[in-house]
Amino acid sequence: MWDELNRLRDEDKDRRIMDLFERDEGRADGYSVETGDLRFDYSKTLIDEAVRAALIDLCDQIDLGGRRDAMFAGAAINETEGRAVLHTALRNLDGGPVLVDGQDVMPGLLDTLARMRAFAEDVRQGVFAGAGGALTDVVNIGIGGSDLGPAMATLALAPYHDGPACHFVSNVDGAHIADVLGSLDPTRTLVIVASKTFTTIETMTNARTARAWMSDGGGDPGQQFAAVSTALDKTDAFGIPPERVFGFEDWVGGRYSVWGPIGLPVMLAIGPQAFDAFLRGGQAMDLHFRSAEWVENMPVLLALTGLWHHQICGYPTRAVLPYDQRLSRLPAYFQQLEMESNGKSVAMNGSALTVPSGPVVWGEPGTNGQHAFYQLIHQGTGIVPCEFMVAAEGHEPDLAHHHRLLVANCLAQSEALMRGRTLDEARALMAAGGMTGDELERQARHRVFAGNRPSTTLVYPQLTPFVLGQIIALYEHRVFVEGVILGINSFDQWGVELGKELATSLAPIVDGDQSADGKDGSTAALVDFVLKHRY
Ligand code: F6P
Repeated sequence: MWDELNRLRDEDKDRRIMDLFERDEGRADGYSVETGDLRFDYSKTLIDEAVRAALIDLCDQIDLGGRRDAMFAGAAINETEGRAVLHTALRNLDGGPVLVDGQDVMPGLLDTLARMRAFAEDVRQGVFAGAGGALTDVVNIGIGGSDLGPAMATLALAPYHDGPACHFVSNVDGAHIADVLGSLDPTRTLVIVASKTFTTIETMTNARTARAWMSDGGGDPGQQFAAVSTALDKTDAFGIPPERVFGFEDWVGGRYSVWGPIGLPVMLAIGPQAFDAFLRGGQAMDLHFRSAEWVENMPVLLALTGLWHHQICGYPTRAVLPYDQRLSRLPAYFQQLEMESNGKSVAMNGSALTVPSGPVVWGEPGTNGQHAFYQLIHQGTGIVPCEFMVAAEGHEPDLAHHHRLLVANCLAQSEALMRGRTLDEARALMAAGGMTGDELERQARHRVFAGNRPSTTLVYPQLTPFVLGQIIALYEHRVFVEGVILGINSFDQWGVELGKELATSLAPIVDGDQSADGKDGSTAALVDFVLKHRY
């Protein structure tokens, strides 16, 4: 299946992206696709007609259309857990029935959404209050998918905030909760315990600490706690009454859950109407993914570009570089989405994967990253495909000159990566600066940029709730397509379990209640050091 692509990769090792533009005047449009408010440009890569055709051929060979339709239809495509994968139903606002085991799940989902809306409005209007009056702050306690999505989206949509201030506690490190609760009034704070399983040790530890903080400070945990979970028996046992529990089903994976009750903090911050626009953005991307030809299908093209760079060209990582300060948590969000979904070495059928699994995903917002790690991206020996994103407009009309600089920087980076600078150009630059002779020769080499480094760019008019919904759904489907082509199950995460089990067995040892006998020498010595240095 990969032979033709490997052959194309090896065919002409000296190919340059710039040459592709010279050969094809229409390349920018031919290798860009638009849907809704987004334009995705993958023309600054070495993908040409032959490579694209071979990549698209992969989609047909593995029946991508069939797998996609099975997902939307509620088939149990998460085979290792025997579950459907239906986060798309959470944003299927008026899209008709979705069946799981013959049952339409939409009435239940819409009912929960209506309860979320009513609760959010009550909190926002002060109808639902704390012991000290209207709620001014919300603390979401969750981790992984129960934190990254709502934390990322709440920050992204800051210009739309007109509700209580939302804070997020994820780490079991007491520093996190101490720092967040430190400045809050326990009588006017709502705590949302967000955990799909309601067993995650970090979340439950933080939830108990928050409950003690609230009762010690005169708040009313019986009133000021809400929960989001699939485990309603456990929320009950924790003491959160059913009317403030927002449930979801096990066919919504944690890292895909921001669209439902896990998105409650986002809804509290921006209001139900803006949250609807966010859902509609996701739904618009679903409709596009389900109907567009592969060659015009944005998630498919984004996935194929990633496969070309990682599995075929062998670039081990990819950088997500939003030129948008409010998307500063997006790289971390995509990290979980991609690495927890596609970081697997066994195919769905149990055989060992013969191609690399998903890549390492990392990034930082521009322009900050430019002054930190872009040096390596431009002149390091390895190649890092970059995924830039930027809005045409910011939300600060008075600061439009800032935004123009931001856009110019974003576009300059992809141009520089592609174009590079030759030794002769570097020499000319040095000479123009008055340098001559051996010194010029020595200096010029340090100023050469190899160029020909691939990047893609996603542009959108403005970071609205609708646009954010489109972007997140775009990447979700990208991860799905990659997983289908690799033949893996993108929807389980067994790789996180071993560490959890060992942490449980280490807890009493670190407490000093059990000996470290039986642990390896390194772990035992580290425990010993910790116990000696404890106050
Ligand atoms: O440890 C991994 C994980 O299961 C993620 O998949 C999930 O998003 C996170 O932990 C939190 O899980 P929960 O929502 O059940 O607390």
